[in-house]
Amino acid sequence: MKLLEGKVALITGASKGIGKGIAEVFAQQGCQVAFTYLSSVAQAEEVEKELSAYGIKAKGYRSDASDFEAAQQLVDDVLKDFETIDVLVNNAGITKDTLLMRMTEEDFDKVIQINLKSIFNLTKAVQRTMLKARSGSIINMSSVVGVKGNAGQANYAASKAGIIGFTKSVALELGSRNIRCNAIAPGFIETEMTDKLDEKTVQGWRDAIPLKRGGSPEDVANACLFLASNLSAYVTGQTLQVDGGMLT
Ligand SMILES: NC(=O)c1ccc[n+]([C@@H]2O[C@H](COP(=O)([O-])OP(=O)(O)OC[C@H]3O[C@@H](n4cnc5c(N)ncnc54)[C@H](OP(=O)(O)O)[C@@H]3O)[C@@H](O)[C@H]2O)c1
Repeated sequence: MKLLEGKVALITGASKGIGKGIAEVFAQQGCQVAFTYLSSVAQAEEVEKELSAYGIKAKGYRSDASDFEAAQQLVDDVLKDFETIDVLVNNAGITKDTLLMRMTEEDFDKVIQINLKSIFNLTKAVQRTMLKARSGSIINMSSVVGVKGNAGQANYAASKAGIIGFTKSVALELGSRNIRCNAIAPGFIETEMTDKLDEKTVQGWRDAIPLKRGGSPEDVANACLFLASNLSAYVTGQTLQVDGGMLT
């Protein structure tokens, strides 16, 4: 028996990186997958094909997660195509790193809008469907940086810490309707987002992690699989660190 057989998941930002990894693991576990992207049109088409090859229904939607109206429209479209949404993974995110001294108002607003406001937008939009079903799992992608803070990432850390507060509040509000809401705080996961970084710096980070390696999208996806499936039926309001022991 596959762990997500019969379920429908909506995953934001799955054209690459961690989101793509989550979509693949969910599809392997029998889940139907609706996913979003913003600019990577060709990559999203490729992901749609790869997911469909697992014998499940998969569809990509070009939709800006930071836009409230677009999120409502997206959920309407997904419901038309898939009939329900059992799992929402709020994964889409960006960085605009720089020291506070150089950080512009736009750098701050953009990161908050895409990383944090998007989670409000999508959670609001799926809420009614999950309330009617009296069931649902919402998974929000935070970061160890949201737990600990990081020099040069005040905007990103604020957005990721905000996600943890939002997650706990939603868990408290919707728990009585059997809707669970948890956050994942990945550590250093090697994706296109981190490919931009200098290799020497990256090796230094790997060496400082107790498990002596960066994480993979699959490492994060497997934690999402647990939170999306009925294996975590009694888990809500938590922030699960997937960081190789980085903050320990
Ligand atoms: N990589 C890490 O080490 C790490 C660590 C902790 C947390 N995280 C978090 O994990 C999540 C995924 O990170 P990643 O490393 O996989 O990043 P990534 O490779 O850059 O992928 C980001 C994804 O988000 C999408 N996206 C960006 N802005 C969007 C928007 N406004 N609306 C809809 N989709 C949007 C992108 O789509 P397009 O390409 O089409 O624009 C892409 O599919 C992020 O929330 C990130 O903060 C990552």
